[in-house]
Amino acid sequence: MAALRRPNAITQRSRPWFGGKIIADAALNTIRFRGGDNVVVAILKPRPAEFRRMRAEDVDAVAALEALAYEFPWTRGIFADCLRAGYDCIVLNDGVATIGYGVLSCAAGEAHVLNVCVAPVLHGQGHGRRIVKRLIDIARWQRVERVYLEVRPSNLRAIGLYESIGFNEFGRRPNYYPARRGREDAIVMAMELLAAE
Ligand SMILES: CC(C)(COP(=O)(O)OP(=O)(O)OC[C@H]1O[C@@H](n2cnc3c(N)ncnc32)[C@H](O)[C@@H]1OP(=O)(O)O)[C@@H](O)C(=O)NCCC(=O)NCCS
Repeated sequence: MAALRRPNAITQRSRPWFGGKIIADAALNTIRFRGGDNVVVAILKPRPAEFRRMRAEDVDAVAALEALAYEFPWTRGIFADCLRAGYDCIVLNDGVATIGYGVLSCAAGEAHVLNVCVAPVLHGQGHGRRIVKRLIDIARWQRVERVYLEVRPSNLRAIGLYESIGFNEFGRRPNYYPARRGREDAIVMAMELLAAE
């Protein structure tokens, strides 16, 4: 089974060596083997999404996700700049596509979460939490003592996520973000990283 790839649609192939048909169905996540009167159905286990470093060739997909998720998205040039600057940029990939990403900058014992994003259709499944925790791990590996981030006061989902992980409000930056009507403040949140954690 290891050689079978997850199908993207319904596909049928005749396999002379098998003496029957192989029918792959992405919607049901199954592969059926039919030979004569016999049918064997294999249910494919969804592959857990995995992290890897963002690469230059990811920037188009990442910028496309960004445009779906944010009203005022970063441009692809900003992501390319983050890669060039050597920031810790990661993508979460489910084996088929990039479903989320995060960007962290670390310097002088401090880290800044610059972006965390999950494909809108996959919100609420724990991917955002995994990305933030991975960024915190990356900060720890670099002996960072405090992690900062900014968030819009209107972004209750993100604030809920950050608070549940251990971030607290640290201050405010007035008129920090563009908004539909004028500007919106940023809440600055911070989290101390204890060496023993
Ligand atoms: C913010 C974001 C990354 C969260 O990702 P996600 O995969 O939906 O989050 P998770 O499923 O991991 O949820 C984690 C936590 O978020 C909080 N949360 C989720 N939905 C919430 C809501 N409607 N209201 C308040 N808190 C909410 C909860 O604390 C939740 O924890 P729980 O699962 O234990 O209940 C995602 O919504 C996103 O990409 N938004 C657009 C981009 C963005 O705003 N990024 C943050 C910029 S600061």
